[in-house]
Amino acid sequence: MTIIDIIEKKKNKAELTTDEINFFVNGFTDGSIPDYQMSALLMAILLNGMTDRETFDMTNAMLHSGDVVDMSALGGVVVDKHSTGGIGDSTTLALAPILACCDVFVAKMSGRGLGFTGGTIDKLESIPHFDTALSDKEFFDVVKRVGCAVIGQTANLAPADKKLYALRDVTGTVNSIPLICASIMSKKLASGADTILLDVKYGSGAFMPTPELALELATKMVAIGTLAGKNIGALITDMQQPLSDHVGNSLEIIGIVDVLRGKKNRLYYEIREVALRLLALTGKYTLETAEIAFQDAIDSGSALNKFAEMVKAQHGDESYILHPEKFEIGRRDVVVAEQSGYVSGMVAADIGRAVTHLGGGRMQKTDAIDFSVGVIMKVAIGSKVKAGDPICEVYHNGKGLDEAKRLISNAVTISKNKPAEHKIAYAFVSRDGVEMY
Ligand code: URA
Repeated sequence: MTIIDIIEKKKNKAELTTDEINFFVNGFTDGSIPDYQMSALLMAILLNGMTDRETFDMTNAMLHSGDVVDMSALGGVVVDKHSTGGIGDSTTLALAPILACCDVFVAKMSGRGLGFTGGTIDKLESIPHFDTALSDKEFFDVVKRVGCAVIGQTANLAPADKKLYALRDVTGTVNSIPLICASIMSKKLASGADTILLDVKYGSGAFMPTPELALELATKMVAIGTLAGKNIGALITDMQQPLSDHVGNSLEIIGIVDVLRGKKNRLYYEIREVALRLLALTGKYTLETAEIAFQDAIDSGSALNKFAEMVKAQHGDESYILHPEKFEIGRRDVVVAEQSGYVSGMVAADIGRAVTHLGGGRMQKTDAIDFSVGVIMKVAIGSKVKAGDPICEVYHNGKGLDEAKRLISNAVTISKNKPAEHKIAYAFVSRDGVEMY
């Protein structure tokens, strides 16, 4: 078997065998297959697709390229949630403490920002001294003691995905349904949770542009997870505008504290939907009892205290969670509406790009992040505005301000007519089928 034969086969739209898939995943991970041959194969997969069987085999090969975490010694239900990425998507930061208050364990490995999307690990590192690189033992101990912990993906969890993802990122091969499916599911199946909720985003700020494509991706991931013996479901959610009105690292922590203190905004409703579905998937709750437990965790202040407890257990300064006004934020500027009307659309990706220009994201993998910059959106799709009203506050330290303001101004469309209502969720997929919202 040679890699050239495998590339030729996929180029000619033929189905690869399990042995051929194991061969190229293992060969690329151990360095015997070089980037240029893997790039050719990835492009052939992107253009010609993979069958469900091939996608399952690729997921399995990537899953077994490194460690498979075993959390069974926790002696309880271990849940995980994965978002396919977006702008202002800080849901994990609220979900981890809320779910821990609902008597399930959350052992979460998250990523850094990628392209215009923000990363949970970067947001957490804006809390002084927060440690996202706990040892395996410390991670386990914090989950056991506090109920939740969030760390960066450990070096040996699905190493094939790490190498493949970095190559896809620079070869135009990210948005392929089988490749995204194998990438996400290999990590989820390796991370030790028994119940998994996938939050698959669609829209201008997501990898899947339409709800139909997001549903196709979600259905494949749920099928693979179910075959692997997991309780798994997927929500298809809207990423046509930033999920949180706060976008940027420290600002998103402040936005999460607002939700944990009881603020009911778009972010709250999305967090609630994900939490309820996840708790119901565990079998410990119905959607109704999950809603009571969720709301009680917030109303009693337990979820906010749990967040502070997790931050402290991970060596961070928990006073920033209890007093978020301690975060140093950049200087304020505003973008105003150029005309009167209704906000009818947003290019969410450009709001993410604006934050990157301010220094809040990376242009290159090695860039340092300025945690203090970002934006607070003052409008959402459907808002009524008058010319001159602020549509966005921009917090900056001088860098990239003009470009960021231009991007935001062009990203927000204002029209005469009120647009149709934007629902947070489009569908829920589980082993029982698809439920439309
Ligand atoms: N998130 C992942 O982890 N992998 C992908 O391929 C896309 C989004």
